[in-house]
Amino acid sequence: MSRENRYHLLAACRRESVDFTPVWLMRQAGRYMKEYRALKAKYSFLEMCKTPELATQITLMPVDQVGVDGAIIFADILLPLEGMGIDLRFSEVGGPKIHNPVRSERDIEKLRIIDPDEDVPFLLEAIRQVRRELEGRLPLIGFSGAPFTLASYLIEGGYSKNFIRTKKLMYQNPRSWQMLMDKLVSVVVLYVRGQIGAGVQAFQLFDSWVGCLGPTDYETFVLPYSQRIFQELGDEVPSIHFATNSSTLLPLMRQAGGDVIGVDWRIHLGEAWEKIGYDAGIQGNLDPTVLFAPPQRIREAVRAILNAAENRPGHIFNLGHGVLPETPIDHVRLMVDAVHEMSQQ
Ligand code: CP3
Repeated sequence: MSRENRYHLLAACRRESVDFTPVWLMRQAGRYMKEYRALKAKYSFLEMCKTPELATQITLMPVDQVGVDGAIIFADILLPLEGMGIDLRFSEVGGPKIHNPVRSERDIEKLRIIDPDEDVPFLLEAIRQVRRELEGRLPLIGFSGAPFTLASYLIEGGYSKNFIRTKKLMYQNPRSWQMLMDKLVSVVVLYVRGQIGAGVQAFQLFDSWVGCLGPTDYETFVLPYSQRIFQELGDEVPSIHFATNSSTLLPLMRQAGGDVIGVDWRIHLGEAWEKIGYDAGIQGNLDPTVLFAPPQRIREAVRAILNAAENRPGHIFNLGHGVLPETPIDHVRLMVDAVHEMSQQ
C-alpha cells in the first residue's frame, strides 16, 4: 500500500470508493506515547499548544509511529476561549479550569469575538508547518468545539457531570442563552475559517457533551446554532460532526450538518448509519477500552465494525471517543493495521 498521497480520508468524506478504510484516532497525539510524555515533562500543555515547533512535532508523532491516515492538529477546543477574555488553565488533576466562568448576562456581554490572527497565531503557524512537513502525504484535520460543548465549559468552569448550571441558564434565561450561542457561532466560524486559511483540509466539530440533552432540547437550544456553523463554513473542506451519547440525536445532528457524522460505541454502527441516512458518511466507533483487550479480541472488534459498515463508501474508522492515556501503543498499531488489512478491496 503506497504511503504517497494517501488521501483516502478526504475521499471517504466525499463518500467515494477507496481501496481500504481510512483510520485515525481522536486524541491520537497524547499521553499514551512516550515521546509525548517526555515533552510533557518539560512543558505545560498550553506551552506545547502555543509553540508551533512543538505542536508540529506532536501532531506528527502518531503519523510516524502508528500509521494513521490523517493528522489532526495538536491544539484544544478551549484555546479560542482565551481570546474571548477567559482565564483558562489546565491542571494535572481534573483537566481544564476556567477561573472566570460565565454566569450572568453581563458576563456574556463582555465576551469578545476572536480574531484568529491576533488570538491564535501559534495555531495557524503550526498548521502551516505541519502542512509543509507532510508534503502532501496525508491530509491535516482541523477542529473546533461546538457551541453547546464550549458553552458548557464557559458556564460550568470545567467538566460537569450533570450540566446543571448550563441547563439552568438555557431554561431560565433563553435570551441569555441565545446571546451566548450567537457569540460562540461567530467565534467557531472564525476559528475554523482561520484554520482552513492556514491549510487544514477537513475539520471536525466536537460536540462531545451534547448527549446530555434530549432530542427536543437539542432541536430547540442547539441545532439552529450548529447548523449555522456548517452553513456559514460552506463546503470548501469536508466536515465531521461528532458527539458522544448521541444515539437518539443522530438524525438531528445530520440535519444540523456535517458530511460525516462521528458516533461513539454505545450504538451499533450499522444502526447508527441507518438513522443518519446513507447520504452522509459515518465515523467510528470502536470502544477506546477495547484497546486494552488481547490482540485477537481487538481484531474481532475491528472486523465487527467493518462488517457493520458493509463496504459502503463513506466510512472513516475511528474510536468512539479519544484514546485513553494508559493505552498500550502496540495495540493502537495493531488496530490501525487490522483496519487496513481487513478492509482492503
Ligand atoms: O485529537 C488529537 O490528537 C488532537 C488534540 C486534541 C486535544 N484535545 C489535545 C489535548 C483534541 C482534538 C482535543 C479536543 C478536546 N479537548 C475535547 C473534545 C474531544 C473530547 O475528548 O471529548 C474536549 C472536551 C477538550 C477539553 C479538554 N482538554 C479536556 C477535558 C482535557 C483534560 C482531560 C484529558 O484528556 O487530559 C484537555 C487536555 C488535553 N487536550 C490533553 C490533550 C493531549 C491532555 C494534556 C496532557 O497531556 O495533560
